[in-house]
Amino acid sequence: MRVLIIGGGGREHAIAYKIAQSKKVTELFCAPGNAGIKEYAACVPIGVMEFERLADFAEKESIDLTVVGPDDPLVGGIVDVFKQRGLRVFGPDKAAAVIEGSKAFSKDLMKKYNIPTAGYETFTEASKAYDYLNNCTYPVVLKADGLALGKGVLICNTRQEACDGVKLIMEDKQFGSSGDTMVIEEFMTGREVSVLAFCDGTDIAVMTSAQDHKRAKDNDQGLNTGGMGTFSPSPFYTKAIDAYCMEHIYRPTMAAMKKEGRSFTGILFFGLMLTDKGPIVIEYNARFGDPETQVVLPRLKNDIVEVFEACVEGRLSEIRLDFEDNAAVCVVLASQGYPLSYEKGFPIEGLDEFKDNDSVFIFHAGTANDQERIVTAGGRVLGVTATGNTLKEARENAYQAAEKVTFTNKYARSDIGKAIDEV
Ligand code: AMP
Ligand code: GLY
Repeated sequence: MRVLIIGGGGREHAIAYKIAQSKKVTELFCAPGNAGIKEYAACVPIGVMEFERLADFAEKESIDLTVVGPDDPLVGGIVDVFKQRGLRVFGPDKAAAVIEGSKAFSKDLMKKYNIPTAGYETFTEASKAYDYLNNCTYPVVLKADGLALGKGVLICNTRQEACDGVKLIMEDKQFGSSGDTMVIEEFMTGREVSVLAFCDGTDIAVMTSAQDHKRAKDNDQGLNTGGMGTFSPSPFYTKAIDAYCMEHIYRPTMAAMKKEGRSFTGILFFGLMLTDKGPIVIEYNARFGDPETQVVLPRLKNDIVEVFEACVEGRLSEIRLDFEDNAAVCVVLASQGYPLSYEKGFPIEGLDEFKDNDSVFIFHAGTANDQERIVTAGGRVLGVTATGNTLKEARENAYQAAEKVTFTNKYARSDIGKAIDEV
């Protein structure tokens, strides 16, 4: 089989690594890819939003299956373009990807189908949002309706902060048209867990759990980022919680989407919060999480291409997912200053050390080739993932490996997986 991956971050590097293990795959391509993905795939310089050019490439190269990584092309309708041209593609179409593309849509869906989530109101006029803030309990959570690179959520402790937030989102248009509509949500507390699942439109196969670390600094301080590290499995996500979520969240979401005429095929990502009153959905994503994928896929035993094909062909019920009985931790190495401004172009040393190591994986996120060298080219530069028999062992291995990879202005959180110590 000839397979094309769309995207060029750490998530796509982890997907490429996993697809490259498949017995079914003879040729692997990635558009645009990155300096690390080159090890597994021929990288093609076409951007993720250039749908027609990507489809031309898939046609010309007789690609048997295209796997889409990022949210922007999915929400933009890349799957519809590929399908219209008779190309086989793994991912939700535009009608289904709206579950991530519009927070107002996903909140209304949960309300309509009794899927547990935080209470909320939706606003399309700033004046009504300001009125609402006069009479609500603080903190509140403001969410721009559309995609905002993970930055469109503001937790506001006072009315003044919330008013500033409404101005930023709805009037100053900090996130562009993503802020034309806004959701104001009840503030909830509890542990967060990320659960990714393969979906074929009807059936759902849930993967092992993971926990992200979204804030830039230790002890969950600093700004929200795309994710500074992950571990898998989450020891807090018990069998009982899994069973509850299957009955009240996962299957009802699949059924709801089908009923709405938006059957979901692809990866559905449940951002859960384990509250005192039980698990609730904080958000849905219509794709693999990043960096969650970097700790989940190295633990997956199945041939991932077989699972992708089962999803596309509507026969996911034939597949039984199987995960290693181990653990994985990913520490993100970022450029100092991320998620705000940072310098790039610094050479990265120490990458070769792990080439033949089957328990350490260095997934590239923001890297580039500069002649013979690999240099930093983004905010999140690399994800250093290590496995171990236990979470503690995996964490030790990940931090040891992370020490050995160096570049100017390297920054990492030192407390990824700290929660493990509370178990
Ligand atoms: P989201 O992009 O919707 O996942 O939100 C980003 C982060 O904001 C989440 O991972 C949570 O940490 C936090 N958050 C979102 N919604 C709420 C909420 N209703 N209550 C408390 N924290 C929230
Ligand atoms: N790590 C969270 C996300 O992928 O949205």
